[in-house]
Amino acid sequence: MKQMLQKEFERVYGVSEEIQFFFAPGRVNLIGEHTDYNGGHVFPCALTIGTYAAVKRREDQKLRFYSMNFSQLGIIESSIDKLLNIKEDDWANYPKGVLKTLIDEGFSVTSGFDVVYCGNIPNSSGLSSSASIEVLTAYFVSKIFDFSSKSLDMITTAKLCQKAENEFIGVNCGIMDQFAIAMGKKDHAIFLDTFDLSYEYAPIRLNDAKIVIACSNKKRGLGDSKYNERRSECEAALKKLKTVRNITSLGELTIEEFETVKDVIQDEVKCRRAKHAVYENQRTIQAVEALKKNDIKQFGKLMNESHQSLRDDYEVTGIELDTLVETAWNQSGVIGSRMTGAGFGGCTVSIVKSDCVEEFIKQVGIVYKEKIGYEANFYVVEVGGGPCNL
Ligand code: GLA
Repeated sequence: MKQMLQKEFERVYGVSEEIQFFFAPGRVNLIGEHTDYNGGHVFPCALTIGTYAAVKRREDQKLRFYSMNFSQLGIIESSIDKLLNIKEDDWANYPKGVLKTLIDEGFSVTSGFDVVYCGNIPNSSGLSSSASIEVLTAYFVSKIFDFSSKSLDMITTAKLCQKAENEFIGVNCGIMDQFAIAMGKKDHAIFLDTFDLSYEYAPIRLNDAKIVIACSNKKRGLGDSKYNERRSECEAALKKLKTVRNITSLGELTIEEFETVKDVIQDEVKCRRAKHAVYENQRTIQAVEALKKNDIKQFGKLMNESHQSLRDDYEVTGIELDTLVETAWNQSGVIGSRMTGAGFGGCTVSIVKSDCVEEFIKQVGIVYKEKIGYEANFYVVEVGGGPCNL
């Protein structure tokens, strides 16, 4: 990868001996969906696939961005003093947003740079290609400008990248993706309480099973999806619940407490949205307990229930994801299967017995193509670490 990136960097910007190379992973969320902006728990892990960058500092203020995944857009130019709120730069808005946020927070970015990005996460698939490029950018900027790791530790990095996405890109996302990527640990998932950002690493011991991701190839951009709408529906439900309970987030309610007070929400749709947030949070806590006890079967059952709740109560699945998941449930060797990420398209995650993976991919692929009309792509993934220098 390094050689390939170097070649591409030199083709695009000219020969140089001062190129540095970096990597940040993508992530998959195993359970705990749409809980991270409701003060609930999530359980994502970083992947060994992700985004790579070849970077060289410049003497002047100029910024040049190039992505091998969007080569048709060529070099996108900007400059440190022109970052402001200019948002017309397509994918480069992600690194620009991160730079702007870092500068606004007082980090000293003293010159521009040239960068080539290359990602092997499918774009807009729900595996966080955008959070990956954000965290990667913050990480390499901290290295090439020598910020102390104290001032920009990995949790601060995650928070600032979330801020960039909220304020610059306009997606009101929670902290899960940036946290999972910045704090990734090989062969571990992160049990994160988004209420106070306390977290614990849990080893992913799947015995003789694998994590299989199915990408629906239904593209979506979070900005134009109903993501922000779901978030405000939860906020509206919380506002009603606050009139009878002293809480600051839906994640503070147990299932019993929610059932006792839910009628105060009045609106049927908002009540279902809040129900998902409360139940999904509890499911996530139970799933991690099950995994700790090596009870993979129970973990899989909770994954399936998570999908049902996202389909029926939260309504963020759609025919593509439902076809992938419901077909997966009927295959032998499947321990659990659910949509992952924001939904509305993107990917599913399944835990499948190793010796059934091949047949699983074949059968689910056939049914999907027949019903949806185009193909799904499958990836057997490994759990990887956080950002690093290459
Ligand atoms: C997207 C957001 C996350 C999270 C998930 C849903 O990935 O970026 O913050 O809300 O959707 O769980």
